[in-house]
Formats: sequence, C-alpha cells, structure tokens
Amino acid sequence: MPIHAFTPIFLCLLSMWRILTPASCHPHLSPCQMIQKTAVCNDGKLRSVPSVLPDDIEELQLNSNHIQTLKSDSLLYYPSLKTLNLACNGLETIEANTFQESKLLQRLTLANNNLHIGFHESSQALRQIPGLKALDLSENKLEDEMAAALLQNLTSLEYLNLSGNLLQRLDETSFSDLHQLKELDLQRNIMFEIDGAFDSNPKLQRLNLAFNYLPCLRDFHMTQLVVLNASYNSIEWFISRQELNDTFQLQTLDLSHNRLLFFPFLPDRSHLQYLYLSHNRVSFYEHLANNATFPNVTSTVVFYNMKKYAPNVTAQLWDESLHGDISSLEILDLKGNQVKYFPQGFIQKMPVLSRLRLCTNCLETLNLTSEKFSGSLYELDISNNRLNQIVADEETLATLGNLTYLNLSLNDLQVFPSGLFSPLPSLRSVDLSYNSIDICFSEDDKSSTDTASACVDWKDVVSLRQLYLKGCNIKRIPNSAFTGLSLTHLELSDNPGIKVQHSIQSLSRTLQYLGLANTQIQDFDFSDFHSLKSVNISRNSLYHLPHSLLNIDLKSLDLRDNKLSTILSSHADALAPKLQTLLVTGNPFNCCQTEWFRTFEAAKTVNIVGKSDIECQDLLQTTHRVEHFHSFWCLEEGGESLLWYILLFVPIGLFFVGFSIVALLTIEPQLLQKSIKKKCLKPTSY
Ligand SMILES: *[C@@H]1O[C@H](CO)[C@@H](O)[C@H](O)[C@H]1NC(C)=O
Ligand SMILES: *[C@@H]1O[C@H](CO)[C@@H](O)[C@H](O)[C@H]1NC(C)=O
Ligand SMILES: *[C@@H]1O[C@H](CO)[C@@H](O)[C@H](O)[C@H]1NC(C)=O
Ligand SMILES: *[C@@H]1O[C@H](CO)[C@@H](O)[C@H](O)[C@H]1NC(C)=O
Ligand SMILES: *[C@@H]1O[C@H](CO)[C@@H](O)[C@H](O)[C@H]1NC(C)=O
Ligand SMILES: *[C@@H]1O[C@H](CO)[C@@H](O)[C@H](O)[C@H]1NC(C)=O
Ligand SMILES: *[C@@H]1O[C@H](CO)[C@@H](O)[C@H](O)[C@H]1NC(C)=O
Ligand SMILES: *[C@@H]1O[C@H](CO)[C@@H](O)[C@H](O)[C@H]1NC(C)=O
Ligand SMILES: *[C@@H]1O[C@H](CO)[C@@H](O)[C@H](O)[C@H]1NC(C)=O
Ligand SMILES: *[C@@H]1O[C@H](CO)[C@@H](O)[C@H](O)[C@H]1NC(C)=O
Ligand SMILES: *[C@@H]1O[C@H](CO)[C@@H](O)[C@H](O)[C@H]1NC(C)=O
Repeated sequence: MPIHAFTPIFLCLLSMWRILTPASCHPHLSPCQMIQKTAVCNDGKLRSVPSVLPDDIEELQLNSNHIQTLKSDSLLYYPSLKTLNLACNGLETIEANTFQESKLLQRLTLANNNLHIGFHESSQALRQIPGLKALDLSENKLEDEMAAALLQNLTSLEYLNLSGNLLQRLDETSFSDLHQLKELDLQRNIMFEIDGAFDSNPKLQRLNLAFNYLPCLRDFHMTQLVVLNASYNSIEWFISRQELNDTFQLQTLDLSHNRLLFFPFLPDRSHLQYLYLSHNRVSFYEHLANNATFPNVTSTVVFYNMKKYAPNVTAQLWDESLHGDISSLEILDLKGNQVKYFPQGFIQKMPVLSRLRLCTNCLETLNLTSEKFSGSLYELDISNNRLNQIVADEETLATLGNLTYLNLSLNDLQVFPSGLFSPLPSLRSVDLSYNSIDICFSEDDKSSTDTASACVDWKDVVSLRQLYLKGCNIKRIPNSAFTGLSLTHLELSDNPGIKVQHSIQSLSRTLQYLGLANTQIQDFDFSDFHSLKSVNISRNSLYHLPHSLLNIDLKSLDLRDNKLSTILSSHADALAPKLQTLLVTGNPFNCCQTEWFRTFEAAKTVNIVGKSDIECQDLLQTTHRVEHFHSFWCLEEGGESLLWYILLFVPIGLFFVGFSIVALLTIEPQLLQKSIKKKCLKPTSY
C-alpha cells in the first residue's frame, strides 16, 4: 500500500485494527475472526453475509448462522473467495446471480440446509461458478430430480457429497455432466437402484453407498474405482463383469452388513487389498457341486436385464474361479457369517494375507497343514466358532513366522497339535478363553502322541506377552507353567477354584495386568508383582482389600461384587494418589464407614466407575447411595451410628417419662386437693 499522507496511514491502521480485533470487541461491526485470509464467522446469529470483511479474503466460514437466502449481492465484495462454508444455516435459496463475481470459488459447503425448497434458483447460481471443485450438499432433503438439477453442467466438480438426502434411484443422467468427479459420497439416502449411473464419471475413485437399500450390485465394471463402500445395504449379490480384460484398480471393498449368501464374485484381475464382508450370510457351497447326493442342484444364476441393450448376467455358482482375483488381499474380514469350511485352495490364493477375521462363523475344524496359510499371516481370529480341533504339523507351523495375534476363544477345542505355540516366533497374544482346556503337566507330555495332544502349553514362547485363559474350567496350573515367559497380561478370570499363587510367581517381574475375577481367591499375595498396573479381583467374596496391593503402583483396580464392608482409611490413603480407575460397586458397604469414598473422591485423579451406583447399608439394613449419604446419622465417621444411640436412648427416655407421669398421677390427688382447698376455702368478700 502506498504511503502518501497521514490519512491513508490512518485508514490502513483502521483496517488492520478491523482485521485484528476479535469478534467480541466489535459485535456490531463484524462477528468474525480473521486468521490470515480466512474469516471465521461460525455460530453467530447472522442473517446475511457480513459486508465489512477485508475484500481480499480467500475463505469465509459462516456455518451455523441463520442465512436463509444467499442474496445476489452477498459476495460481490469478496472476489478472491476460494472457499465458502455455509453449513447449518437453514439456507433455502441461493439467488441466481450470487456467484457472478466469484470466479475463483473452488470449494462450497452447503451441508445441512433446506436447499430442497429453492433448488431451482440455486442450481442456476451454482452453474455460474466456473471452477467449482468440491461441493457438499449433504443433508438437504434433496430428491432425485432436485439433485439432478443442482448438478447440471458442474463439469469441473471433483468432490461431491450428497449423503443424508432422499435420493431413491440413480441412472445414467444423474451425474452425466460430472466428468472430473473423483470422490462421491452417497451415504444415508434411500436408494434402491443404481443403473449405469457412473458411466460418465471415468475418474471416479472413491464411492460411498453405505446405508441405502440396494438389493444387489451386479455387472460391476468400474475399473478405475479404488474404494467402494457399500456397507449397510440389503445386497444379496455382488457380481463384477466377468469378461473384462482390464485390471480393476479396486483396493478396498466394504460389503459388510448386507445379505450376501455367496462370497462376492470379484473381478478377474484386481489389486484388491481390503475386503470387508462382516455380518452377511456368506458360506461356501463347493460340497454341492457335482455331488451325487444333490444331482439336480442349480449351478448357474442368470440375472435378466430389463433394458434391451444391457447384457443379461450369468453367474456360475460353484465355479473354481468364482472368487475372482484375491491374490493381493491383505485383510479379509468375514466376521459374523456362516462359513463352515474353505473351498480347496482358497487360502492358498492369498499369498500376502495378513489378517483373517472369522469370528462368529461355523468352522468345525481347522487343518492348518492343508489350508497352507501364507507366511505373512499376522492376525488369525477364529473366536466364537465350533472348532473342536486344530491340526497342524510342525513344518506348517514353522512357516507362520509372522503370526502375532491368535484368538481361539469361545470354541469347543479339545485337541491341539502338540507344541502348537512353540514354533511361532512372533506370537504375542493368544486367547483361549471359554474352551475346556487343560494345561500340560510335564508327565502328560510324554503320554501324548507326537502330533496331537489334549492339553496346551506355551513353553519357550519367549515372544508371548498376553495370554487369555478366561472360563477354561482350569483347576490346576502346573508350577512350571509360565516359566521362561515374559507375560505382561494374564487373564485367568472365571475359573472358580483355580490355584495360581505358585505358578505365576515366575511372572512377578513382568506382569502388568492380572485378571482373577470369579476365581474364589481368598488372599493373594501381590507384593512381589512390582510391575502390576491393573488388577481384576471382582466377584470373589473378599471381605478385605488384600493388604499386599498397597505396595504396588496400581493404576486400575476392579473390586466389584465382593463382600467388602469398608476400605480402611490407611488403605484408601495409600491407593488414592496412584489409582486412575476404581470399580467397587456391588459390595455391602457400611454407611458409617465410608471415609474411603471421600478420600477417593477428593483425589481428582481417580475415576470411580459407576460412582452413583455405589451403595451402603445403615444399621437398619436400609440401602443408601454412598454418594448422597450424610454421615450426620453416624456419631463419628468410622464409629457407631447416631441412630444407634437414639435407638438406645429413646426407650430409656420413654421409660423415664412414663415413670414420671405415673408417679405424678399418684401424687397428684393430694396436690389437687390442696390447691382446691386453698382456692375454695378462701372467705368470699360479699
Ligand atoms: C450446460 O452447458 C451447455 C454447454 O456448455 C449449454 O448448452 C447448456 O445450456 C447448459 N445448461 C444449462 C442448464 O445451463
Ligand atoms: C459427507 O457429509 C457427511 C455429513 O455432512 C459427513 O459425515 C461425511 O464425512 C462427508 N463425506 C466425505 C467423504 O467427506
Ligand atoms: C464404510 O462406511 C461405513 C459407514 O459410514 C463406515 O463405518 C466404514 O468404516 C466404511 N468402510 C471403510 C472401509 O472405510
Ligand atoms: C479379452 O482378451 C481376449 C484374448 O486376450 C480376447 O479374445 C477378448 O476379446 C478380450 N475381451 C474383451 C472384452 O476385450
Ligand atoms: C456331498 O455333500 C455332502 C453333504 O453336504 C458332503 O458330506 C459330501 O462331502 C459331498 N461330496 C463331495 C464329493 O463333495
Ligand atoms: C433330477 O432331474 C431329473 C430330470 O430332470 C429327474 O428325472 C430326477 O428325478 C431329478 N432327481 C431328483 C433327486 O430330484
Ligand atoms: C436377456 O434375457 C431375456 C429373457 O430370456 C431375453 O429376452 C433377452 O433377449 C436377453 N437379453 C440379452 C441382451 O441377452
Ligand atoms: C490335514 O491336512 C493334511 C494335508 O492335506 C492331511 O494329510 C491330514 O490328513 C489332514 N488332517 C486331518 C485331521 O484332516
Ligand atoms: C512379516 O512381517 C514383516 C513386518 O511386518 C514383513 O517385513 C515381512 O515381510 C513379513 N514376513 C512375511 C513372510 O510376509
Ligand atoms: C477374542 O475374541 C472374542 C470374541 O470375539 C473377543 O471378545 C475377545 O476380546 C478377543 N480377544 C482379544 C484378546 O482380543
Ligand atoms: C473383570 O473381570 C470380570 C469377569 O471376567 C469382567 O466381567 C469385568 O469386566 C472385568 N473388569 C474390567 C474392569 O475389565
């Protein structure tokens, strides 16, 4: 800015002042805050665009105001505007000429408004923005034809958000002008049909169709698409166009929460890495193909196309190549399906598979030898199936050098390969909870056959850190069970009657979490376990807090559902500075011995979980909430209840009162007579 005289300087300072002063100083002038070239005017009560902002602003944020109509002169003063945010305004109409000077506008956010009302005029306004790249029209109650009108001629658009509208069906005209479109969000509409809708969008890479009502995706041929999210629909079939020679760019396919019965018919060539199929009804049907038991089972499905020119789609149901190209798959999530087995060679087709999630399926046996998992397998979750045995030879196990996380909980496992865990050098976390397993005693080892055994052990698995053995019906743990291990996490809860003190002594150096809930432990000596951070001893009928807990640097303690009547003040004082989480509900606390509660409450660093649910009983066995109980009723904190004294003294008091009345009544006649005599025997003076 040229400096000629005093006045320009003054003006310059004034405008600086205007830029720099925050909203609160000049509520009448401008409720906006300037941050470089961005004007932030969110959460005000503005009914129009402020006209007093610096004219070179590049970004204007007007979210959560009351701008119902964007007037044609609103943006005249801001020709440098690149980004305009108008979300949550109840905006109904953008007047046709609003953007006539906004030649540089690239990003426009109109989310959460009422553009369904003035969509016609608004669409004319949008067409005036020559270089619009990103448009957010989410949550505007837009129906099909409204969206189509608004999107006409927006040929430069790269990002479009139409989520949370009322779109029902899309066809080839819906996005026909959006030749540059790269990302499209159509989540949370009510779409039940998509018919050739994306044929004019050859650059589309990310498409989100989640939370709609699509019944199937067939003839999928968007070779350029990288991410497709079609979760939470009603999809029964996913079929990609079969005879295409192109390699699909698809990397992520999310079909979770649908109704797939078959594994999706994927493209023959693709780079698919992440396949999410959780919560469907996927199963494999290889056993039906060419099976003498089912001679007349249909083996092809034809999808007839209503349109004359479009091809009908035929799918060979139990074809070997059915699953398409899964050779790049790294994550396969099949949680919550109905898989009973894998077709022959299926696992082998995924040489870089690293996470396989099969939780909650119907697998009965797992033969690692025949499945031939790849060496990159990192996570294997087969929890909550019907597994009764795992088969593997040592050679196979030796190939699973990257297996780190193994979850076999909630099965019916009885037979294991002997030394299942020993050859797995990366194993960190094993969950065997809720299987009826035994832990091998060294004598048992000798009697077991060389390939399978009925007990488990984890000798020399030096990498193991977390071991979950919840609800395994374990009674006895061999003294040497954990020697040589460096466990940080041991979960032994829900094994009533388990004896652990000696066996876990060898973990005293490393153990950070110990779960002993519902094990009927009475007194456990924690004093050697200096690394412990978290202890769960809930549901154990404990009458006292184990004294040995006080010397450890505990962060989290679960004492719920025991028989504690109090926590000694000295114990509370020792724990309060260290603890971060405390769970104590479900104990029969004495209302007059709750000083511990105030101690923990006063220590602001302790999170008392379910604080308002902690109850105590007074002398009359009435239940109160500790939080609201006033020690007024107790003579002294930690002592007897005042009530007790009242109860003790009231009868005595009553006795004396009663006694006095009786005594009074027997003496009274004489007194009465005397006073009557006094009054009546007085000589009258008439
Ligand atoms: C869209 O653009 C085409 C060609 O640029 C033009 O002929 C047509 O009138 C435009 N449509 C609207 C509704 O502006
Ligand atoms: C689209 O808008 C919705 C709601 O405003 C938002 O939750 C979602 O993240 C947006 N999608 C993308 C891809 O930005
Ligand atoms: C797909 O969309 C749903 C719903 O928005 C979301 O929860 C999920 O994480 C998305 N999937 C992927 C792979 O991003
Ligand atoms: C695919 O390639 C094969 C041979 O390479 C050819 O015969 C066939 O016509 C091609 N199909 C398409 C749809 O291009
Ligand atoms: C035929 O089906 C039965 C029942 O599902 C199955 O037990 C059997 O293994 C199948 N036979 C072949 C050859 O797949
Ligand atoms: C299979 O189909 C043939 C002819 O189509 C028929 O004769 C036969 O009875 C069918 N078998 C069964 C088990 O339905
Ligand atoms: C699709 O199948 C229907 C019914 O059999 C048939 O009339 C139509 O010609 C087929 N269309 C094509 C393109 O093959
Ligand atoms: C496991 O698979 C191997 C190799 O296919 C096979 O030799 C073995 O018999 C199978 N074991 C069981 C118990 O099915
Ligand atoms: C095991 O994992 C490491 C790192 O996560 C990786 O570099 C290595 O290639 C993997 N091994 C195999 C056999 O995939
Ligand atoms: C193992 O799977 C069960 C059931 O799916 C789950 O509750 C548990 O948290 C998993 N274990 C670990 C260590 O993540
Ligand atoms: C302690 O163990 C019990 C029984 O297994 C469980 O229900 C509870 O959630 C655990 N407590 C914490 C804090 O995880």
